[in-house]
Amino acid sequence: MSELVKLFTDCALRGLSLCNRIVISPMCQYSAHDGYLDAWHKIHLGRFVMGGAGLIFTEATAVQKSGRITHGCPGLWEDGQIAAHSEITSFARTHGAASAIQLAHAGRKGGMQRPWYGNSFLKEEDHVRGDNPWTPLGPSPIPVDDGWPVPHEMTVQDIQALKDDFVAAARRAERAGYDVVEIHGAHGYLIHSFLSPISNHRKDAYGGNLQNRIRLALEITDSVRAVWPDHLPLFFRVSAVDGSADGWQIEDTVYLAKALKSLGVDVIDCSSGGIAGSATTGNSGLRQPGFQVPFAALVRESASISTMTVGLITHAKQAESILQENQADLIAIGREALANPNWPWHARQALNEKCQYHRWPEQSGWWLERRQQSCDFYTE
Ligand SMILES: Cc1cc2nc3c(=O)[nH]c(=O)nc-3n(C[C@H](O)[C@H](O)[C@H](O)COP(=O)(O)O)c2cc1C
Repeated sequence: MSELVKLFTDCALRGLSLCNRIVISPMCQYSAHDGYLDAWHKIHLGRFVMGGAGLIFTEATAVQKSGRITHGCPGLWEDGQIAAHSEITSFARTHGAASAIQLAHAGRKGGMQRPWYGNSFLKEEDHVRGDNPWTPLGPSPIPVDDGWPVPHEMTVQDIQALKDDFVAAARRAERAGYDVVEIHGAHGYLIHSFLSPISNHRKDAYGGNLQNRIRLALEITDSVRAVWPDHLPLFFRVSAVDGSADGWQIEDTVYLAKALKSLGVDVIDCSSGGIAGSATTGNSGLRQPGFQVPFAALVRESASISTMTVGLITHAKQAESILQENQADLIAIGREALANPNWPWHARQALNEKCQYHRWPEQSGWWLERRQQSCDFYTE
């Protein structure tokens, strides 16, 4: 390990300076009401602010009501939804963290059960609970799988409305005080479903060859970049591969990344999978620690753009060596942060091999430092 611990170096992105390179990945809580956040989200995200991450993501947030994954997903499709987001960004800023929001449309995966009710399309038992289905949107009338609802094939007017709603949501994100907007182009949701030849069988300018399939992603990015402040960074999350021979490939991702860079995207957030089935809970042989790091490394190298890597990164030394080897610029953690919201503080300790409690929030650090002195006294 080199002398310089890269994980805890600042990261400058346009006018934003992150105090370290640990990012809390967006994680749906399925706990919003009519698209409105509640106390759960503030405390859930607040734990990560206290835990020392440099950048904290609010979960996939729908730009249209029909763009929610589940009835419990939040939105920014109306002004009333801004206030609760502002409380989150202001808490983060006060305590030295930056905040990001992932703007999304679920597309043909809209109208799912919350994971703990089955993680499939909405069924009879969900209707009883009040979770009624709606007709999802997609590039083509191709369902996610057998039994899933057939999506409405988007018209050019639908596409224009979608772009307008991404723009309106980005403006609301700015009003809410977010430092970063990420466009969700991964995991089988709407934008990804246009990218992938598996789900996009259109015959118009938005389907067919690669140039046409990436058109929606580029148009949304261009429109969002035009209103998102110049001094603030824009991220784009990709599923770097679909994982099947007839799907989206890593070369397509590199091509897209170059085009996104030319439109002013600052970071490509490299995930994978999800065009059919779940991107996160899959358990194929490919799911080893750091299994998506090679995607971030290749995109970074080939498209000369900053990347964020994510997926089974659980150890401080693992995270540090990804940065030391120039495979990514930012390290995102998801489930490990659920297991231990203070992971960044522990990572700092693991990499420095000495007590760093003075850096923790004083409400806990002051006590922990003294507890450490007591422990040291008895072990010396
Ligand atoms: C509870 C939960 C909710 C998630 N919600 C989102 C989401 O809103 N948007 C997204 O792009 N990925 C989402 N993901 C995927 C994570 O952002 C991350 O990419 C994935 O969990 C892999 O990282 P990990 O191994 O560190 O958990 C979610 C994952 C979990 C566990």
